[in-house]
Amino acid sequence: MSVPLTFDGKVVLVTGAGGGLGREYALAFGQRGASVVVNDLGGNAKGEGKNSAAADKVVEEIKAKGGKAVANYDSVEDGEKLIQSALDAFGRIDIVINNAGILRDRSFSRLSELDWDLIQRVHLKGSFNVTRAAWNHMKEQKFGRIIMTASAAGLYGNFGQANYSAAKLGLLGLSNTLAIEGRKLNIHCNTIAPIANSRLTQNIMPADILENLKPEYVSPLVLWLCHEQCEETGALFEVGAGWIGKLRWERSPGHVLLRKNHPMSPEAVRDQWDNICDFKDASHPATVNESLMSMLSMLNKEPAGDGLVANPTSSLGHNPAQAVGYKFPDHTFSYTEMQCILYSLGVGMSTKDPDHLRFLYEGHENFACLPTYGVIISQAAVMDSGLTNIPGLEINPTQILHGEHYLKCYQPLPTSGTLISKATILDILDKGSGAVIIINVSTYQGQRLVCSNQWSVFVVGAGGFGGKKSSPHAETTAPPPSRAPDAVVVESTTKEQAALYRLSGDRNPLHIDPSFSAMGGFKDPILHGLCSFGFASRHILKQYANNDPARFCAIKVRFVKPVLPGQSLQTEMWKEGNRVHFQCKVKETGSLTLSGGYVDLYEDQTSDPKALQPAADLQSRLVFAEIGRRIQASGAGLVEQVKGVFGWEITQDGKTIAQWTIDLKNGAGALHEGPYSGKADVSIAVSDADFMALVQGKVNPQQAFMAGKLKIKGNIMLGQKLDIILKDVAKL
Ligand code: NAI
Repeated sequence: MSVPLTFDGKVVLVTGAGGGLGREYALAFGQRGASVVVNDLGGNAKGEGKNSAAADKVVEEIKAKGGKAVANYDSVEDGEKLIQSALDAFGRIDIVINNAGILRDRSFSRLSELDWDLIQRVHLKGSFNVTRAAWNHMKEQKFGRIIMTASAAGLYGNFGQANYSAAKLGLLGLSNTLAIEGRKLNIHCNTIAPIANSRLTQNIMPADILENLKPEYVSPLVLWLCHEQCEETGALFEVGAGWIGKLRWERSPGHVLLRKNHPMSPEAVRDQWDNICDFKDASHPATVNESLMSMLSMLNKEPAGDGLVANPTSSLGHNPAQAVGYKFPDHTFSYTEMQCILYSLGVGMSTKDPDHLRFLYEGHENFACLPTYGVIISQAAVMDSGLTNIPGLEINPTQILHGEHYLKCYQPLPTSGTLISKATILDILDKGSGAVIIINVSTYQGQRLVCSNQWSVFVVGAGGFGGKKSSPHAETTAPPPSRAPDAVVVESTTKEQAALYRLSGDRNPLHIDPSFSAMGGFKDPILHGLCSFGFASRHILKQYANNDPARFCAIKVRFVKPVLPGQSLQTEMWKEGNRVHFQCKVKETGSLTLSGGYVDLYEDQTSDPKALQPAADLQSRLVFAEIGRRIQASGAGLVEQVKGVFGWEITQDGKTIAQWTIDLKNGAGALHEGPYSGKADVSIAVSDADFMALVQGKVNPQQAFMAGKLKIKGNIMLGQKLDIILKDVAKL
């Protein structure tokens, strides 16, 4: 035989317990060891009058059976007094059954304001007042069980009960939210819609039916829902005649009306009515998030790119393009050696590998910070609250996905320090099913540019505003060569990988909280994409750069599919000069998780002293960094003056050793290392030394051109605007 459910030590308040269902609950709780406060105002079914006899009688019945009970005769409108009775008599309150109720039935046209108000006051406001008075006690003791009493009249509507139906369904809404707020406090709140023989039903149902609707058939559900073993919360049940059923929302898959050449219109709604209302393949969203996610997944089923119609009112805001050039507030990030070590552990470093010690032990002679820690430094500048506070953009944080990432290090990251990050919206792209916001973040230590990040953030469902589809400023992924990989490294993540990685800064519950990840449709919390990114980059650093962070120049990657903590990552690498192409798979499933990736390495100075001067040490690099900073600072000002795209090639011994694009034509202007993806208006080739001579004013551009030191192709007239760009930048 199973163990009986008891309530020893628990204090229960049952409102309206002088008769009907309430009496039954009070007796049942009393019989199973609870101390019971039997509340009843003792009026008639319409709420008129008052009398202490009803509550007293039930108290006597409980006591006669050996139970503990006290009476309370206040109206539930005075919720505090009811809870005070429990505290005075028994010192605590554990369980509240909101049951008291009256009826004032009238057809809607005859319903008076008094009929309306009385019903709301007793049912809805009464339950609110009693529950609120109990809430903080439950919160402090980390235990509480609450029942709200709804009714089929509220769930389905019932002739002559407009006031009652409204109050009863209001109680369900109240319960839904209390369940959410109470979850972490072990306060559960459920709603029942009972059906039972009582004075409220006596005149409206035939006697033979009422015979089967005994109130004692309802109390077992109430007792179970209130027991400490019961995990149920936020649920709704219909109960009566010995039967119990659970209810939930069902939603039709619905229909996306807004498509190319099909604007949203009342006619479109009419024409699609059958599809909108078709419940085949219905879903059952149980939370606001699930509701939103499943709606968005419908939108995502539309063809990406051009499936949706250009719509001037995207969910991003009225004119998202206006936010291009927006500068986030400067962000200061301080860290110590401990954070570098924590990050290294987060991306899977271990003392099992002796090579890893330099990233895990601050006393190591070559102690270093992993280069990919640069993403963490920039992350707070963009993500914390920045992204959701951009003037003119309305971004729902639950709709954001990290699409791609680019990181470039100009020097090894310091192992501790205070760095300042400056973030700017470089571009906003319209991908149809969503928008891509491209954000550049430059991070400085004092005046020195340490690293830069480019975040490509995909906002699901925010496309369709008629914006451009690509950006000349975006760092693009690169497909790997078609041959078999040159090297493959497989490494398992641990079950705790996400729990560890999140301590470095990304605390999104998606990576730790099973209920949250379930809402996103994942069976378990998923690993951070940037954690896999950290794994892959250190695989490459070890394979091709002897774990030397000074060799790390840049990394670009696209995030494809999530990884679950505990799965193994397989990094496949192809070396092409100083570029290592890579992609990452989940070993167990074979599915691609990071694609189109590459890591650019600086030349190895230690192994080949005659090697080309590393691009990192070019003097012109500092000048370009300064130009980039100026472009950011001037917003669209320089673009107005110059209106051109400059492609720069820095040469050495006739070979190009670095390329830069200065775009002063599009958006708010931009600088990036590498060639322009389109055709630059003017291309300039110059050696590092001659470039420095130029910016320092030692030679003027005309002289350099005539002497063959400056090669200009394309719109030579634009060359005359070089002064505007180069003026004073050498004073670093
Ligand atoms: P009932 O009339 O036997 O019990 C309600 C009790 O609440 C009465 O004893 C009454 O004196 C008390 N009460 C009324 N106003 C009060 C106030 N302001 N403060 C304190 N006590 C007050 O009715 P029954 O059927 O037991 O109803 C219990 C609950 O179940 C009610 O909320 C009712 O709306 C709900 N319900 C009942 C159904 C049924 O089939 N019996 C169907 C659907 C809902």
